[in-house]
Amino acid sequence: MTFELLTPTKPTWTEAVVADFDTFLLDHAACERKASSMAMSMLLHYPDLENLVKEMTKLAIEELLHFKAVMAHIHERGLVLPGDEKDPYVNELRQAQRRGSQEYLLDRLIIASIIEKRGAERFGLVAEALTDVKLKKFYTKITESEQRHYLLFLDLAKEYFNPEIIEPRLNELLIIEAKIIDNLKIKSALH
Ligand SMILES: [Fe+2]
Ligand SMILES: [Fe+2]
Repeated sequence: MTFELLTPTKPTWTEAVVADFDTFLLDHAACERKASSMAMSMLLHYPDLENLVKEMTKLAIEELLHFKAVMAHIHERGLVLPGDEKDPYVNELRQAQRRGSQEYLLDRLIIASIIEKRGAERFGLVAEALTDVKLKKFYTKITESEQRHYLLFLDLAKEYFNPEIIEPRLNELLIIEAKIIDNLKIKSALH
């Protein structure tokens, strides 16, 4: 079982990113840092799920290495990381998480998988649009990682839940995600 996103990112988004790439880099760094702390919070919430703890530990390290790599580009350009801003896309998706321990775990895993999938799609568009060889290579590598992470969260969901439980909820959350993406203001940021 894999899945596709229901709505593709509009070309105007890619144009906005390329037109103001410095702003995109700063937002990208913030996203990587948040992805790392999300992995840490996930493993702290489920200390008894051994494989989840192992995978989230590896993921927290990998996302922090992404942060380090993005920061190198930021410093190279003489930019300074701004204060943290809320991510409306992630916040709205999180509002769809159900209460109840099993539902909450399943929703967290599916939502994380969707976020990674959207990340892979958008980083892929950035890699395609960039002309700078070094940056293009960097974003191609980032795209491959986020594609792996999308599958990682989906595999974890499959480890703890049956496909009959996963699939209907996945379809609901994909519809919710598509609505959020379609209503999101276009700006030079991952979301
Ligand atoms: Fe990442
Ligand atoms: Fe990721």
